[in-house]
Amino acid sequence: MKILFIGDIVGSPGRNMLEIYLPKLKEKYRPNLTIANGENAAAGKGITEKIYKQLLEWGIQVITMGNHTWDKKEIYDFFPDAKNMIRPANFPDNNPGKGVVYININGVEVAVVNLQGRTFLPPSDDPFVKADTLIKEAKQRTNIIFVDFHGEATSEKQAFGWYVDGRVSAVVGTHTHTQTADERILPKGTAYITDVGMTGPYDGILGVEREAVIQRFLTSMPVRFEVPKKGRTQLNGCFINIDPKSGKAIRIERILINEDHPFLD
Ligand SMILES: [Fe+2]
Ligand SMILES: [Fe+2]
Repeated sequence: MKILFIGDIVGSPGRNMLEIYLPKLKEKYRPNLTIANGENAAAGKGITEKIYKQLLEWGIQVITMGNHTWDKKEIYDFFPDAKNMIRPANFPDNNPGKGVVYININGVEVAVVNLQGRTFLPPSDDPFVKADTLIKEAKQRTNIIFVDFHGEATSEKQAFGWYVDGRVSAVVGTHTHTQTADERILPKGTAYITDVGMTGPYDGILGVEREAVIQRFLTSMPVRFEVPKKGRTQLNGCFINIDPKSGKAIRIERILINEDHPFLD
């Protein structure tokens, strides 16, 4: 089971990058399932129904979210119909949407789970305890469990990876928008990367205009963060191959495309 994952798509520069490179990546890796984090897809904040549908049209099969899930208010209305979109499963149960989706690939089911960390992020239920429950449920249906753990602290994501090693097929970190070079297969068979990075502006700071971020550090005053419309762009992601019988990972490869790391087919 080959899974392609695209890191946080940020605004139109991220969407443009995806439109250009997704066909090339699909040709190179031949994934059975393509997942993307879409929490910043609409101008850096949240997602709209139009963008959700556009991403599916381009060939994304599951969209995961994070702390920006509710930024665009229209998500409240279309989430119940957006079958292929999930938000962190450890948000309170009364929140719209769901945190797990099962995708059937030629008769083989894959459970895709979204969780959010609690370090330097708004309060949520315990993702570790939630994972225990979700893994138990998912194992009734499939051995292939893919987790997008949306978290700020590298330690929390590493702790989570080791905590679920051998119980899920893959843990990919999202949220920091900065790719880490620690992709590996943990001893009991879980593919792991602390953060896959982001897809969008290359010369901004975490995907937004760098001048505003610098001003924020210089003045400590509130500033408006905008996604730069012009300039160089990047795509970050990863590719994971999983043995469908055991659910254990066989391979994990980091994907980084920008002017300093051109796409190689
Ligand atoms: Fe993000
Ligand atoms: Fe985030």
